[in-house]
Amino acid sequence: MQLPQAQAAVLEAASTREAQSIDELAAATGLPPETVTGAAFELQEEGLVALSERVEETVTPTDEGLEYVERGLPEGRLHRAARDAGADEEAVPMGQVIGAAGLEGAAVDIALSNYARKGYGGIEGGKISADPTAEPGADPEARALESLAEGGESSSGEAIETLERRGLVDRSERTVRELTLTEAGVTALMEGVEVAETVGRLTPELLTSGEWRDVEFAEYNVGADAERIEGGRIHILRQTAERVKDVLVGMGFREMEGPHVDADFWINDCLFMPQDHPARTHWDRFALEEPTHIGELPAELVERVERAHRGGVGPDGEGYHSPWDEGFARALALRGHTTSLSARYLSGHEIGELEPPQRFFSVEKVYRNDTLDPTHLLEFFQIEGWVMAEGLSVRDLMGTFEEFYAQFGITDLEFKPHYNPYTEPSFELFGTHPTTGELVEIGNSGIFRPEMLEPLGVDCDVMAWGLALERLLMLMYGFEDIRDIHGTLCDLDLLRNTEVTY
Ligand code: PHE
Repeated sequence: MQLPQAQAAVLEAASTREAQSIDELAAATGLPPETVTGAAFELQEEGLVALSERVEETVTPTDEGLEYVERGLPEGRLHRAARDAGADEEAVPMGQVIGAAGLEGAAVDIALSNYARKGYGGIEGGKISADPTAEPGADPEARALESLAEGGESSSGEAIETLERRGLVDRSERTVRELTLTEAGVTALMEGVEVAETVGRLTPELLTSGEWRDVEFAEYNVGADAERIEGGRIHILRQTAERVKDVLVGMGFREMEGPHVDADFWINDCLFMPQDHPARTHWDRFALEEPTHIGELPAELVERVERAHRGGVGPDGEGYHSPWDEGFARALALRGHTTSLSARYLSGHEIGELEPPQRFFSVEKVYRNDTLDPTHLLEFFQIEGWVMAEGLSVRDLMGTFEEFYAQFGITDLEFKPHYNPYTEPSFELFGTHPTTGELVEIGNSGIFRPEMLEPLGVDCDVMAWGLALERLLMLMYGFEDIRDIHGTLCDLDLLRNTEVTY
């Protein structure tokens, strides 16, 4: 029998008795593993070898895990330092022990919580006591971690699960293929295998010499498994933003554009947000160090907005009767919502006076000084929109949302009354999370108040909203933590494999 060189080598190295892995065969034949894999598939096809596959799990210490192998687990170090300080006799001040244990930053909390969990001692009133019978040296977690660092194989057990939860080990999977010789393979070897000269690659030399006419080319095995190469692609958030824009354009909306850094005037004052509103304090906004204030604001508009704030609009209008300061309105900040763009467009400041009916939208970033958690980021995309027309009602608002969200497969919207200084009535929107079944807030909306519209020079109804793009994405794809799609903790498989389809 004639076989290409790699196949002949693999066949000769294979055995009937002992299954050998691709790596072992690669070592035995001196061929690269991918060549051995290719040859193995060919040989399997011809019935000369049998291939089996299994998934092997390996557990390896993370960088933090390796550091603890070197220095000991933080709770163990704390116990040793506590005993050294005599805490097995009488509780001693914690600060001193923490310092002596060389613990800093996040390691302190880690040490304290595991110290208590493992019963190494007690912590009360800023003092720490140590149980003299505790043996951190014999701790199963510490032992398992050490054994893994030395190349130990165990991948199960309670200690390993705890280590995984603590982020001290990583679990990974790989497919191991093993090969044995079949009877037909043995027969072929006994009858004798010759190496067929096959050519794997057409070269310029083969072409110019004309040799290509006489050689035998290796066949491609297009069915063989190959390593997956992950190219770059557009992030699913961007893809979904594009999709949202298409849907809104399809619904007759035009896109607004405007600055990420804007004057508080456009972000808040034009929205009838009182200057002493809590959301306008330095806690919630990202102010600018340089420049701190916008150069100029449209004077007439400033005057009308100030008047609305001080005394309200209309014959029975009530303003805030609180101070209003133009300097405060001119302060610059990263916009906390894109309703600043709506204010700019509605005022006529961007593209001139607008005659009803009008529909506008934007899908743009906003910035908030929030605490990072599974549903909050410090910056996110807001789907802003508004419709200007005569005689709008809450039913128009709800109907627009039903129509919009239905295009993303979301048909179970719920509405809750809400409060915004600039809308009356106001509604929050909710959808149901597809995997947890929880209600998730996905937007805020309402009908702009006369106190906002009159100074802007708009004398018909305007309904408006700000929806969260990331939350829409959560409902569409079922992930539970916004950090799955952003930042260092993101779920690469989700990002690579999610199809955003129309
Ligand atoms: N600005 C609001 C927010 O960020 C959204 C909104 C826009 C609400 C327009 C009503 C009208 O939550």
